[in-house]
Amino acid sequence: MKIIRSVADFRQFSHQARSTGFVPTMGALHAGHQSLVERSMNDCELTVVSIFVNPTQFNNPDDLLAYPNTLEADTKLLQRLGVDVLFLPAYEELYADDFRYRVLEQGFSEQLCGRHRPGHFSGVLTVVMKLLNIVRPSAAYFGEKDYQQLDLIRDMVSSFFMEVDIIGCPTVRESDGLAMSSRNLNLDACARHRAARIHELLESSASDTEMTTALNSEGFDVDYIETHRGRRFVAASIDAKGRQVRLIDNVPISAEVH
Ligand code: PAF
Repeated sequence: MKIIRSVADFRQFSHQARSTGFVPTMGALHAGHQSLVERSMNDCELTVVSIFVNPTQFNNPDDLLAYPNTLEADTKLLQRLGVDVLFLPAYEELYADDFRYRVLEQGFSEQLCGRHRPGHFSGVLTVVMKLLNIVRPSAAYFGEKDYQQLDLIRDMVSSFFMEVDIIGCPTVRESDGLAMSSRNLNLDACARHRAARIHELLESSASDTEMTTALNSEGFDVDYIETHRGRRFVAASIDAKGRQVRLIDNVPISAEVH
């Protein structure tokens, strides 16, 4: 696996691959990321993974500081999976403009997570646009766990006529249903045990209001439980050793339940 750290080196890395799959990540890789990499390797001749903890998408500095960093283990995993290129860009190069230029969406990005994390999606869309312009893949892979993000990236790519297929991949779950997330690393044993309730209630026949009441009474701090575009979305925080860990999830809704 080739490790590339600068845009110039990436551009110089000339490959004749007929198709390039790209999996952008912020590291702390888990089975969900692995499924994206495997899908890319299955679909494309060359697979590029990036690890970059993007500060512009963190509206809360403490959240950025607490974001898990497991670069050594991540590198080993990607090597073992047979990834061709690991791209590790530096902030100074990706944001040479100091974030003076940014992608702003003024519809769906203001709902759900966007309402609770102002500026979050502008940071996500901007970094994804930058990375796609550097890597120039034929396809890029994103998990459905971050469904709002996936939807907005698809919409951005279509709105700016960008020539890349955006592929959404199913959420990978722990055996008790908890959606895989890098943030799960910040849960202590008690919070980890309780976190499974999010998915359990999400799939239940409880209405959005009933689910909010249930989670609040079980010690969660609920940001939202809402149904949009045929899916039910949730964001809720739970205390783990004095720190709030924010978890999100979503599932398609079945017509007979709602
Ligand atoms: O989903 C993520 O890990 C990030 O939001 C992404 C798409 C890599 C952009 O920083």
